[in-house]
Amino acid sequence: MPQITAPRGTRDLLPEEAVAFSHVESVSRDLARRYAFERIEIPLFERVELFARGLGESSDAVEKEMFRVGGARGSDEERAEWALRPEPTAGIVRAFIEHGMHVRPGPLRLTTTGPMFRYDRPQAGRYRQFSQWDVEVLGDPGPAVDAELIELAHRFYAEVGLSGVVAHVNSIGDAACRPPYREALVDHFRPHVERLGEDARRRLEVNPLRVLDDKALDPDLAASAPRSVDHLCEPCREHFAAVLALLDAVGARYEVDHRLVRGLDYYTRTAFEFVIAGREGQQQALGGGGRYDGLVEVLGGRPTAGIGFGIGLDRTVLAMDEQGVTVPPAGPLVAVVGFGDDHADRLRVAATLRDAGLAVRPDGTSRKLGKQLESAAKAGAGWAVIIGEELARGEVGLKDLATGGQRTIGVDEVATAVRG
Ligand code: HAM
Repeated sequence: MPQITAPRGTRDLLPEEAVAFSHVESVSRDLARRYAFERIEIPLFERVELFARGLGESSDAVEKEMFRVGGARGSDEERAEWALRPEPTAGIVRAFIEHGMHVRPGPLRLTTTGPMFRYDRPQAGRYRQFSQWDVEVLGDPGPAVDAELIELAHRFYAEVGLSGVVAHVNSIGDAACRPPYREALVDHFRPHVERLGEDARRRLEVNPLRVLDDKALDPDLAASAPRSVDHLCEPCREHFAAVLALLDAVGARYEVDHRLVRGLDYYTRTAFEFVIAGREGQQQALGGGGRYDGLVEVLGGRPTAGIGFGIGLDRTVLAMDEQGVTVPPAGPLVAVVGFGDDHADRLRVAATLRDAGLAVRPDGTSRKLGKQLESAAKAGAGWAVIIGEELARGEVGLKDLATGGQRTIGVDEVATAVRG
C-alpha cells in the first residue's frame, strides 16, 4: 500500500523540534503579559468575503493563496464561501466589531498565536501551514504605540536569542496622500512597462505600490521610483517623523526602507518588517506589521485606529537554528525506578516529586534495575530515584546518571538535590 505522507508545504513538529517552538511560544506569552496584551481566539476559518474585503482582492493572500474549505458534503458554493485564515488581523477586527468591543475601555491590546494557511508554492521558510504570534492594538492612533510595538518585536527576537535583527520601516500614507502617490508610481513605471515582469505589470494596473515589492524589479527602475515619504500629507509626515524620533529614543534598531509596502491592502501610514541585517533580499521577513487605521470601517465598524504585527514562529526557529541558538533546558528530568512489582510505590513517589515541581518519568515495567536505568538515561533523564526498602523510612536512592554516583536521601530532599 502506498505510504500516506504529510501534505506538501506542511511539517510535522517532532519532539526535538518542538522544544524550540515551545520556548519561542513561552517567550511570546511572557512578553504579552509584560506588555499588557489580552488573549483573544478567533476561528481558523472565516468567510472568504472577510479576507477579500480586509486584505484586498489583489493581495497575493486572497488572489493566489486562499485555502478554500467546504464541509463533509461540501458543495461548490460552500467552498466559495469559506477559507482557512491566511492571517488573524481581519478575524480579530471582525470579532471586535461583532462583539461591540469598541465600548470597552481602550485602547484594546489583543494577542493570539496559532496556525495560518496560505496556499503558496512551498519552499524553505515558506509553508502552507505556519504559525504566527500576533498582537493588535485597537483605538490608539499613535505614534507612541507604533514605536512600542516595534520595540516589543525587537525584544522578542532578543529574548529568543537572535542577533542582528533590524526593523525596516516606511510610511505608506493614508487615504488623503496615497492616491497622488499611486499616480506618481504609475507615471514612473508606465513608460518602462516592457522592463517589468508579468507580475509587476499586473500589479501596476491593480495596486501600483506593490510593484515596489516585486523581488524581480529592475534595480535602476526601483532606485529611481518616487518614494512614499516624499508624498505624505502633513499629518502623515508628522506621524512618521514622531515614530522615528521615538524609535531613536528607545534605541530600537531600524532602517527606513523606501521599497517596503507590505503585501496586504489594509495598511496605512507606518509599515514595518523584521529581517536579519545583511541578509535582506536572501531571506523572507521574520515578522511584519503596521498601522491599519481604515480597516475597522472597511469591515463595517466605526472608524477606529489599529496597528499590529505578526511574527512568523517557523522562520524565527529556523533563524535560531542558523545562528546556533541553544534553547535553555526545561529543568532536570527524573526517572523513578524500582524492583519487581512495586509500581504503587513508584507512582506515589513520582506524584510527590511532581508536587515539588519536578518532571518525572516513572518506569512502568518490572525489568531488571540495570535495564530501567539504561532506558532512563536514553530518555534524557539526568537522575534516577531508586525505590527500595528504605522507602519505609521515607528515603530513596538518588543516582546521578551522568557520573554514576549514588546516595540515599529523604524523598523530600530530592527536588533540592537535583536542582543543585
Ligand atoms: P505578513 O507579513 O503577511 O503579515 O505575515 C507575518 C509573518 O508571518 C511574516 O513576516 C512571516 O514571518 C510569517 N509568514 C507569512 N507567510 C508565511 C509562510 N507561507 N510560511 C512561513 N511563514 C510565513 C500578516 O500576516 C499581518 N496580519 C501582520 C499584522 C498584524 N499586521 C497588522 N497586524
